[in-house]
Amino acid sequence: MKVGVIAGDGVGPEVVAEAVKVLRATGVELELVALPWGSAYWREHGAMMPPNGVEMAREFDAILLGAVGDPGVPDDVTLWGLLLTLRKELDLWANVRPVRLLPGVPCPLAGRGPDDVDMLFVRENVEGEYSGAGGRVGDVAVETAVFTRAGVERVARYAFEQARARRKRLTSATKSNALRYTMVLWDEVVEEVGAEFPDVERERVLVDALAARMVRNPDSLDVVVGSNLFGDILTDLAGAIQGGLGVCASANVSPGSAAVGMFEPVHGSAPDIAGQGVANPIGAIWSAALLLDHVGEAQAAARVMHALADVRVRTRDVGGSATTTQVGDAIAAAVAE
Ligand SMILES: NC(=O)c1ccc[n+]([C@@H]2O[C@H](COP(=O)([O-])OP(=O)(O)OC[C@H]3O[C@@H](n4cnc5c(N)ncnc54)[C@H](O)[C@@H]3O)[C@@H](O)[C@H]2O)c1
Repeated sequence: MKVGVIAGDGVGPEVVAEAVKVLRATGVELELVALPWGSAYWREHGAMMPPNGVEMAREFDAILLGAVGDPGVPDDVTLWGLLLTLRKELDLWANVRPVRLLPGVPCPLAGRGPDDVDMLFVRENVEGEYSGAGGRVGDVAVETAVFTRAGVERVARYAFEQARARRKRLTSATKSNALRYTMVLWDEVVEEVGAEFPDVERERVLVDALAARMVRNPDSLDVVVGSNLFGDILTDLAGAIQGGLGVCASANVSPGSAAVGMFEPVHGSAPDIAGQGVANPIGAIWSAALLLDHVGEAQAAARVMHALADVRVRTRDVGGSATTTQVGDAIAAAVAE
């Protein structure tokens, strides 16, 4: 298996180093190829990655990405020059975000613990509200959401499959009371696909009510499927519930195809703490576990997840005092055992 490693900017290289350490500790044979793309590359070459970067990325089984973003480079250059281009050009149409509260990580919801927070978010990643269609004339702007039956169907089917393998409960985030076209199609297609999964209990919940329910009653949710915008917002809320940005992991995948998948912690380059050795590597290490699953190494992935739960060495953002390296070392040691 060939894995491209884009450490990127800011804390990216710090957390990716720990994720790579843990990948090596699993003993799984992976050829790790460093891709030195990002803002430093942009300064030297005027682009975030080589012109054939997308083709190069396609050659890998998976990509592990740290983060991009540099105070000296416009954000639209860093994001569109690398991350968003790879997601779109590689057609990584599902964004998958596991949300669990790891033992010892403080939860902002009073009285809630690890048993209450175990959800999986599946977000449509390439169309919907972020299709880019629209325009502006002076003070009037329109932004058109584009939903296709094929686009909704594939993400719904993937979400139902995930629910079937978990607690058999799927919640669809909708807003079809107000969005009379796109969300009505969304509901219709989710219903149709759901009929193929009679063993999975399904419900649709208005996205605003769903946000409230995540706070009041997170244990009532298993798999949540949502459009690009709804998924974007709900997963940030979910991230806060699981202890903050430093622990959140994500997979960008194109399920059912042999296409490369891209795995990345949810956080950005965190320039405010870069170089201090205090960044939490858990999001990156968890992303590496998702990567292992993607390349067919489910057992190794499970070992990493056990280590993430068992090892209580934590960085300061989640109430500890360990450095990035100390957390990585402790998790790698637990995995190697
Ligand atoms: N996927 C990505 O590459 C990605 C995602 C978001 C933002 N960005 C970029 O990153 C740059 C900074 O953006 P931002 O400050 O809005 O978001 P950010 O995620 O970098 O940081 C937000 C806050 O979370 C903290 N934080 C982030 N990661 C952490 C970690 N691993 N451990 C502990 N604390 C952590 C930071 O210190 C900061 O206080 C911008 O250039 C932005 O465009 C990139």
